[in-house]
Amino acid sequence: MKIAVIGCGYWGPNLIRNYVQSNKVEQVICCDLDKKRLDRMENLYPSVEVLSDYKALFDRSDVDGVAIATPVKTHHPLAKEFLLNGKHVFIEKPLTHSYETAAELVKLSEEKERVLMVGHTFEYTAAVNKVKTLVENGELGKILYISSTRVNLGLFQQDINVVWDLAPHDISTILYILGETPVSVNCQGRAHFHEGIEDVATTTLNFKSGVIAFIHNSWLDPNKIRKTTIVGSKKMLVYDDIESQEKIKIYDKGVDVPPYYDTYADFQFSYRYGDIHSPRIDDHEPLRKECDHFIACIQNGMRPLSDGYSGLRVVSILEAANKSLSVAGKAVPTNGLKLAAKRMRINGNGNGKAIGNGNGNGIGKANGNAFMMASTWR
Ligand SMILES: NC(=O)c1ccc[n+]([C@@H]2O[C@H](COP(=O)([O-])OP(=O)(O)OC[C@H]3O[C@@H](n4cnc5c(N)ncnc54)[C@H](O)[C@@H]3O)[C@@H](O)[C@H]2O)c1
Repeated sequence: MKIAVIGCGYWGPNLIRNYVQSNKVEQVICCDLDKKRLDRMENLYPSVEVLSDYKALFDRSDVDGVAIATPVKTHHPLAKEFLLNGKHVFIEKPLTHSYETAAELVKLSEEKERVLMVGHTFEYTAAVNKVKTLVENGELGKILYISSTRVNLGLFQQDINVVWDLAPHDISTILYILGETPVSVNCQGRAHFHEGIEDVATTTLNFKSGVIAFIHNSWLDPNKIRKTTIVGSKKMLVYDDIESQEKIKIYDKGVDVPPYYDTYADFQFSYRYGDIHSPRIDDHEPLRKECDHFIACIQNGMRPLSDGYSGLRVVSILEAANKSLSVAGKAVPTNGLKLAAKRMRINGNGNGKAIGNGNGNGIGKANGNAFMMASTWR
């Protein structure tokens, strides 16, 4: 299989490294408008082929899939052209810069029966999958709230605000863990340096189940923090992605409220301070898993774990966040954005609907280890 990576700037080289190291990929083609970036890729990975005009890939029947790691506003036009030319497409997060364009790509990928996958990298981390299992098994009890912080100093973006840059990771992780989409979104932020491009923001996701999730993003923070706290009725969990050893800590802490009280003395919450436990995680590089998954989806005609609908959900929440920013943080309903995707885990071993595999098989059944998604198009 041959894979082309479009965009060799800051992030693209990470994808290139993983495809070069994959034994499923015989050739990696690096494409960038900037010749210096191509020279750098050739120096780093002498086996790669380099190309400055992505259109030269359209007639290359030997190239199966393309991975797009270019600035966000270029995702849609590039992906559209590749899908129209029969290529399987992986796009870095966020899928596109608007709901309309994301929806168009999802529809097109279905019509063309091509894989459309979005780089929601955290869905491929061992830690996030461990957290998801703990939540699904009821280890924490009923989930009350989630708080996610993703801040650092820089990298300021020119075309998107901090919410579109950093929150896709928080949003995709929270939706993945909860298996639920929010009914409304609030967002407040400030643009301190570039007018109209917020560099600090807090986004709140309100779920029908009663769960509330707070996401804090900033390019203006002295520390790099990647931390998610999940508070349940039984236990509390902290996932710190910066930690090298104990990424997840489960705190047997909580508050017990007496069922009734007669006197003020009875009216005491009892706080529980129990043990702290850090579960073992079989670590792997999430990007390797993500790249392997894209290849497997192309080879087996599977719908990716982070498929176009997953990208569409995140983009629609980002769009709602932007609308909320413009009305001083008022709640913006997500149903108004026609959340088209209905997520459903079909069964544990990943039997579900698959898209065509390029050999004329079209829509069919597939068995795989990934969770398959059932989605509806409206
Ligand atoms: N998954 C993650 O954790 C993660 C982390 C960082 C960035 N990203 C995503 O990766 C994407 C790229 O971000 P970046 O920080 O690497 O940007 P960047 O600006 O550093 O690099 C983009 C590169 O794309 C090239 N390019 C632009 N248009 C092109 C075209 N038409 N044809 C060929 N090359 C073109 C540019 O010359 C540049 O080298 C964004 O979508 C971003 O959100 C993902």
